[in-house]
Amino acid sequence: MQFLSIASILLPLLVTQSHAAPLGSNNSLVSRTTPGTKPVIIQMFQWSYSSVAAECTNFIGPAGYGFVQVSPATEHIAGPQWWTDYQVVSYTLTSKRGNRDDLKNMIDTCHAAGVKVLVDTVWNHMAGIDSGTGVAGTTFTHYSYSGTYSSSDFHYCGTPGNDIQDWNNRTQVQTCELSNLADLQTETDSIRARLAQNGNDLMSLGVDGLRLDAAKHMPVADISTIISRLSPQPQYITQEVVSGDGETIQGSEYTGIGDVMEFRYTTELQESFSKNGISGLHSFNDKQWTDSSHANVFVANHDTERGNAATSLNSNSPSNTYVTANVFALAHPYGTPTILSSYSFSSSDDGAPNGGAGTCSGAGGANGWLCQHRWTAIAGMVGFRNTVGTAALTNWVSPQSQQIAFGRGSSGFVAINNADSDWTTTFTTSLADGTYCDVVNGSSCSGAKFTVSGGSFSATVPARNAIAIHTGAKA
Ligand SMILES: *[C@@H]1O[C@H](CO)[C@@H](O)[C@H](O)[C@H]1NC(C)=O
Ligand SMILES: *[C@@H]1O[C@H](CO)[C@@H](O)[C@H](O)[C@H]1NC(C)=O
Ligand SMILES: *[C@@H]1O[C@H](CO)[C@@H](O)[C@H](O)[C@H]1NC(C)=O
Repeated sequence: MQFLSIASILLPLLVTQSHAAPLGSNNSLVSRTTPGTKPVIIQMFQWSYSSVAAECTNFIGPAGYGFVQVSPATEHIAGPQWWTDYQVVSYTLTSKRGNRDDLKNMIDTCHAAGVKVLVDTVWNHMAGIDSGTGVAGTTFTHYSYSGTYSSSDFHYCGTPGNDIQDWNNRTQVQTCELSNLADLQTETDSIRARLAQNGNDLMSLGVDGLRLDAAKHMPVADISTIISRLSPQPQYITQEVVSGDGETIQGSEYTGIGDVMEFRYTTELQESFSKNGISGLHSFNDKQWTDSSHANVFVANHDTERGNAATSLNSNSPSNTYVTANVFALAHPYGTPTILSSYSFSSSDDGAPNGGAGTCSGAGGANGWLCQHRWTAIAGMVGFRNTVGTAALTNWVSPQSQQIAFGRGSSGFVAINNADSDWTTTFTTSLADGTYCDVVNGSSCSGAKFTVSGGSFSATVPARNAIAIHTGAKA
């Protein structure tokens, strides 16, 4: 039987019911949503801690990224596949990415480079396989994890195999098993206490925030109680809640705890850039999505980029759409953006190449790694995002369905051409006069330069490409 991470099950379920669950009762949690002046997160998927540390120093800090998000830190089942990381065996902080000391060294090194650390955290479940030995040596059987949990700590929801069968049944989604993964009774005080202990262990090492895996499979009250017991409080939280319009469990229920990963945005970008046209991307206010100040957005993550369930653009997408969609995500004000940094794979189960040591070279990857965070367009747009901050979207134009351009107040301007021929025009901006460097194709002003005069500039946006200028990159 193949085991997938919880997150692999991306089912866009469309139903007519909608229930609102109570928000987290602890109001002190409600404000924990703004990731600050360097808002861009990189998901360092499957990178070893030592390689993340080196990359924080060598590139991530200097490039202006605010956060790295690393794979789960807790002991998990052994095996070469990436999804082993999501099958928890104990809360010993040893994973394929490194041990506790490696984790601490990475946190300290990234902090010294001005980069904060988010840890992917698995609280919904333990492992789903019958028995084995974890990567730190803990022996286990299904529902018995020596020293941590025994059989009375789990839900047995009564469906065949105790698996979720009806994805519109809240009780099933939150108490049945996903792919056989042993489902913790997070409503009990003893389990909440044990999970808070794991959270506090991470916080004690200097972790800045958490990505909560499978958050949708835990009631809001369970998560908010555990989080309220953490000290210090995480500065940033993003939660994996995959919801479709009208689905029973909605991401908006979870915004009292922190941000919510907005998978509908991911789908919208895939459909817009690959077939429907991009002219509809002006605003998402008419959608039923998580509000902008609580949405965590991404062109792709480790689940959406792979497998039969591939539900996003990825590095193999044609016509440069993966790049131009990432330019869009970093330019548009909706949500807090996460950039995926991952690797090439031939099978969707493939774990990290090069023994897990992430390696980059120049503006790209090496040894099987892609290093999307170094791609010139993406790294350039991080500077754009940091410079424009929360400035409003201005000066929107869209002469045809595959061409859009817009400003961010008086700080930046971007033009995206998803058509197959060049787009030559004069753009009206709110920028001060001066000569600006294109940050999409070129770094340190090595690419095209554009002169704004009387608020306007003329440019050719190459086919299937983009240009972007901002006040932090003037010639
Ligand atoms: C939801 O699932 C539970 C557990 O299987 C079941 O007892 C309950 O009747 C279901 N509710 C609905 C509305 O189908
Ligand atoms: C809310 O969270 C804060 C910060 O952890 C904590 O000090 C406080 O006791 C919590 N309040 C409630 C009502 O849970
Ligand atoms: C990107 O910049 C390089 C160097 O200036 C130039 O040769 C190349 O044609 C540019 N590509 C695009 C798509 O603008």
